[in-house]
Amino acid sequence: MKKQILVTGGTGYIGSHTVVELENAGYDVVVVDDLSNSSADVLDNIEKITGQKPVFEQFSLADAEKTDDFFNRYPKIEAIIHFAASKAVGESVNIPLHYYRNNLVSLMNLLDCQKKYGVANMVFSSSCTVYGQPDKLPVTEDTPRKDAESPYGNTKRVNEDILEDSIKANPELKGIALRYFNPIGAHPTALIGELPLGVPQNLVPFITQTAAGLREQISVFGDDYDTPDGSAIRDYINVVDLAKAHVIAIERLLENKNKDGYEIFNLGTGNGYSVLEIVNGFEKSTGVKLNYKIVDRRAGDIEKIWADTTYANEELGWKAEIGLEETLLSAWNWEKRVRGIE
Ligand code: WQD
Repeated sequence: MKKQILVTGGTGYIGSHTVVELENAGYDVVVVDDLSNSSADVLDNIEKITGQKPVFEQFSLADAEKTDDFFNRYPKIEAIIHFAASKAVGESVNIPLHYYRNNLVSLMNLLDCQKKYGVANMVFSSSCTVYGQPDKLPVTEDTPRKDAESPYGNTKRVNEDILEDSIKANPELKGIALRYFNPIGAHPTALIGELPLGVPQNLVPFITQTAAGLREQISVFGDDYDTPDGSAIRDYINVVDLAKAHVIAIERLLENKNKDGYEIFNLGTGNGYSVLEIVNGFEKSTGVKLNYKIVDRRAGDIEKIWADTTYANEELGWKAEIGLEETLLSAWNWEKRVRGIE
């Protein structure tokens, strides 16, 4: 009998790629999403990739009644991967209450239902943003968290505490927080990928939309950082590598391999690349010349961050495998399919 996994935010970017890997691994997936930042069409493309269309329910997890009713109707769920959240850093500065209400209440409603319906396992989508600008690089799981640069980042930090404290108070619960570095790229079939609504905030979708002619040019936010070429450095990780780590984390919990009730893992590649290196890497892997200009730094940006991946490599037996150029090409192939470009 296939084990049933709930994926919240499963029509989103990382969520949809994780649904694919879960189905490939033989799990039965139920997706809950409010479609505030994604489309249900993603489910048809997941089916084209795996041959299995996940069960789908549309509602907001911030609605306690609907969340409770859902768990009452799905008694076979054994674990949850919780992606659903508002996630635009800039937007969160303008509408902080929406971010705190949506992101914190959703998690608390899920935890209430886990206790009430006996769903022991939760993998939580966290972010390296909880580290702020680290004093020492690379970042390990023991690197102290810092005050977040945005309400979005603060919801990730507070949600980690909510999860940890809930597990401490309810030993029947166990959870893993996965701190993503910068997820980029798309599924090799180009059937699913990152599809930001409106003007992309993140670098790689802005690059692919510029290459597709939707944007005039790329603004490189600052070249006066203390880095080799002056532009800021991040640890860019392929979204399929990231998705596979979620399957491993879920299996760790389902098979009771976790060492503590609450565990944290950094999910990065261990390599830092600057903005200009990403621009050049895209041109090299796709052959598409990009227009860009150097502008002022973006408020709230940190200078540089990349992961020490030792703990995830050794404890999870997981390592990012897909290289940067292949990843950037996958992002371009996805953009071309979405825009109907040959
Ligand atoms: C990367 C680099 C920018 C756009 C955020 C969140 C993180 C996660 C990923 C959700 C930075 C530069 C960007 C552009 C640029 N989000 N840049 N021109 O800010 O590292 O991380 O998104 O889970 O939690 O904090 O990602 O892609 O926005 O920026 O120069 O048009 O690219 O300054 O140095 P970021 P990003």
